[in-house]
Amino acid sequence: MSRTDLSVRVSAKEMLTPSICRFELRAADGGTLPPFTPGAHVNVRGPGGAVRSYSLTDGDERMYAISVAREAAGRGGSVALVDGTAPGDTLTVSEPRNDFELLTAKRHLLIAGGIGITPMRAMFHRLRAEGGSVRLLYLTRTAEETAYLDELRDPELADQVVLHHSSEAGRLDLWPYLAEPDDGARVYCCGSRPLMEEVRALTMHWRPSRIHFEDFSGVDATANARPFRATWAPTGRTVEVGTGRTLLDALRGAGADVPSSCRSGTCGTCRLRLVSGAVEHRDLYLSEDERASFLMPCVSRAEADTITVGPVED
Ligand code: FES
Repeated sequence: MSRTDLSVRVSAKEMLTPSICRFELRAADGGTLPPFTPGAHVNVRGPGGAVRSYSLTDGDERMYAISVAREAAGRGGSVALVDGTAPGDTLTVSEPRNDFELLTAKRHLLIAGGIGITPMRAMFHRLRAEGGSVRLLYLTRTAEETAYLDELRDPELADQVVLHHSSEAGRLDLWPYLAEPDDGARVYCCGSRPLMEEVRALTMHWRPSRIHFEDFSGVDATANARPFRATWAPTGRTVEVGTGRTLLDALRGAGADVPSSCRSGTCGTCRLRLVSGAVEHRDLYLSEDERASFLMPCVSRAEADTITVGPVED
């Protein structure tokens, strides 16, 4: 993790559903934590070393709260965090970063699918506290799998929250909420790829700047890929990177020692230095400024025929 790392202690841990675990994290030295805004996330290094991104659901300068969906069929990062961490343990997290900033609007429509509720919860409560006009559509399969269910089905929120469980009520038709484009509104969506694709399709007639997505599933590294040659600067060895291969795998195949974790352009672990060539950046991690000097080889590729890269520190 290249952003400033923070050492935090797990001060509380609670299963919100059979598979979603809420963690409270406090500075290991008892001090304060950097501030964050609704929609922000942190990268968390779990017990096995895997780094994953999690939205901050609530918290302040004394405590960060995250909720982690234990994905048994995933690559192990969330399982290690949920099963292998106990109150009192110390973890490393990055400083918060917000790529899903809550922008001003007369009206906000928040659409959350499953664990996509995590950034939305912080946004929803912020907008309510400010007296804003907000509606939250929260789509899950069952009530049992719905994190923050009791909180969000509070009768006081009935005119602002639509809770929809597809096992009981089938698929929610989003068209009535999106049919009329509204330049005074903003739509925020976080959830599964199919949900986000559906919202994208249903808002094609909206101004693009009014529609916002948060996607932690990362990027398809080999979609629309073209082949190129990459040179590993420390050895001068050049490898072919075919259309179905990532730069990361090609470099490793040539003996380069490049660490990785998420392999989807979100965690920052595989960062390399750009020595020469132009990069087609596909990650969700680097800032615009950082893109001039660095790249994430798990997803990014050369823009032209050749590229030369090396470790961040020589
Ligand atoms: S391995 Fe996470 S960004 Fe590349």
